[in-house]
Amino acid sequence: MKSVKIVYGSCGGNTELACKIAAGQFEKRGYQVTLLSAKNRTYKDVGDFDLLVLASPTYGHGELERYFGMFLSSSADWDLEGKDVAIIGLGDRKYDADYHFESARTIERYLVDKKANLVGKPLMLNGSIVLQINRVELWVDQLL
Ligand SMILES: Cc1cc2nc3c(=O)[nH]c(=O)nc-3n(C[C@H](O)[C@H](O)[C@H](O)COP(=O)(O)O)c2cc1C
Repeated sequence: MKSVKIVYGSCGGNTELACKIAAGQFEKRGYQVTLLSAKNRTYKDVGDFDLLVLASPTYGHGELERYFGMFLSSSADWDLEGKDVAIIGLGDRKYDADYHFESARTIERYLVDKKANLVGKPLMLNGSIVLQINRVELWVDQLL
C-alpha cells in the first residue's frame, strides 16, 4: 500500500482541518496516511513515504506558522531530491494582501532548493475551510 505523510503546522485549526479532510480522501483512494503535527518534530520523525504533503498557514506578514517554521529550519539536511511532495498553504487576504498565501511560496522555495518533485499545484485555501471541503477533496483526486 502506498503511503502518504502529511506534516502540518496549525495555530487556529484551519490547516489541521484541511489536512484531516485531505487524509480522509487519500484513505478513500487506498493510501495509508500518517498525519504529523510539526510541533517538536524534525524531518527524522517523518521517515519513508511515497508522497509527502507539507502544509502551513501564513502568519505575521508572510511568515510560516511558528512550529512549522521551526520544523523546516531544522530540516536543512533532509534529502528530498526526486521525492514527490505536494503543498497546502493557507492564508487570508484580509490580514495582508501583499503576503497572501506566502506560506505556500516559502514551502515551494524550500522544495525547489531541495530538488524535490513538486506534485500538482499548491492547494491554497483562503479563509474558512468549512465551505471549501470540496476543493480539498478535488485537489487530492487531481494529485493521484
Ligand atoms: C495574526 C495573523 C496574521 C496573519 N497573517 C497573514 C498573512 O500575512 N498572509 C495571509 O495570507 N494570511 C495571514 N493570516 C491568515 C491565516 O493564515 C489564516 O487565518 C489561516 O487559516 C490560519 O490557519 P490555522 O487556523 O491553521 O492557524 C494571518 C492571521 C492572523 C491571525
